Amino acid sequence: MTTLTFPTNFIWGAATASYQIEGGWDEDGKGESIWDRFSHTPGRIEDDSSGDVACDHYHRWQEDVALMQSLKLQAYRFSTAWPRILPVGRGAVNHKGLDFYSRLVDNLLAADITPFVTLYHWDLPQALQDEGGWMVRSTAAAFVAYADVVTRALGDRVQHWITHNEPFVAAFIGHQMGEHAPGMRDGGAAIRAAHHLLLSHGQAVSLIRQNSPGAQVGITLNVSWVMPASPSRADREAARRHDGFVNRWFLDPLYGRSYPADLVEIYQNHFPQGMDFIQPGDMEAIATVTDFLGINYYTRHVARDHGAPDNLPQEVFPAPTVEHTEMGWEIYPDGLYSMLNRVHFEYQPSLLYVTENGCSFSDGPDANGRVADTRRLHYLRDHFAAAHRALQSGAPLAGYFVWSLMDNFEWARGYKQRFGLVWVDYATQQRIAKESALWYRDVIAANELTLG
Ligand code: FCB
Repeated sequence: MTTLTFPTNFIWGAATASYQIEGGWDEDGKGESIWDRFSHTPGRIEDDSSGDVACDHYHRWQEDVALMQSLKLQAYRFSTAWPRILPVGRGAVNHKGLDFYSRLVDNLLAADITPFVTLYHWDLPQALQDEGGWMVRSTAAAFVAYADVVTRALGDRVQHWITHNEPFVAAFIGHQMGEHAPGMRDGGAAIRAAHHLLLSHGQAVSLIRQNSPGAQVGITLNVSWVMPASPSRADREAARRHDGFVNRWFLDPLYGRSYPADLVEIYQNHFPQGMDFIQPGDMEAIATVTDFLGINYYTRHVARDHGAPDNLPQEVFPAPTVEHTEMGWEIYPDGLYSMLNRVHFEYQPSLLYVTENGCSFSDGPDANGRVADTRRLHYLRDHFAAAHRALQSGAPLAGYFVWSLMDNFEWARGYKQRFGLVWVDYATQQRIAKESALWYRDVIAANELTLG
């Protein structure tokens, strides 16, 4: 038996996002978000569902905090819904919306759970989308004003702020691949959106620090470990391009290296308007020094060149013979180790958090009401061990958030994909802690991982 001990102040938590759990989509003055609009459009969501009710967390938040406490979670990462606070994106504050988060924060603190607040987890006010959304620069300014409202209200109690969750996904899956809101298929729009997302992050950092003295401020990126399908030169180049597409396009500018030249060349050749959205001072703003980098890690990508005529780096093939989760994502814990090390050595963030890691398996309650989600337990165990290895090689990893606290609305995939530590019966809204959650509770209590 091997026991892996984590550093004394290591923070163990779980994560959620507003649209995925809250419900109450039009209650108490909340405005419409792009995800309300998108999920209400027939054909966009696999099971034709929406986040209208989701886990009804908007009404059951006290029960949910008690649940977190029973699982001994030390921290909880959640997001604030911009249109709940500023229904049309800017201007008048909806105090009922803001108070909801204020009460949640107070309850978390009373339960000794540290709140990590994400300001943008994809639910842009629809009113801003109607003006062009992330494709226009004014949305970055609106984000800064929104961040100001939230951090002024909660900044005395919240000490960990994440500006954006996965700008890659918001920009490219939302604007180039059309699978997420706002559902566009325009690569040029995607790089423009990505720029404004990054810019709004950079412009908000110092303001957040002012409003929330002593707080840590960072951003969360989805990173993927990319490997070539073969040692051939073409496959290695494809892997390099894909790494540029998913990882470097965000990491490089955030750490002062501007956009990666190899990708700039591809985009400039491909998109008629090129990179005309960059204004003087933008790259400096984006590179504003932060206190930590959040890493969301789920899988690796294996790239094979298939001679795509447009030369866009999208040629990604899952390795065929390995284990996959129900999302179809390969289980590859080693990629977490490799990525934490790489980010540490190449970019040197002062601190790292794994802000999301987890898996979709639909195991439900047996006749005794027990959810034996052994595959999730193994997935988490192996990824925790990978994180521990990264710690040993010097990565400044300060905490780990499992995605997700509970089963929830998995965006375009609807409710069939279950990522929760806690089972949710959507008909009754009953919550049941799965075996993985009970195991996680013991890992947290011991701050140790025991490998058989
Ligand atoms: C990430 C998202 C999160 C969740 C997981 C499975 O990309 O940040 O909201 O959907 O994937």
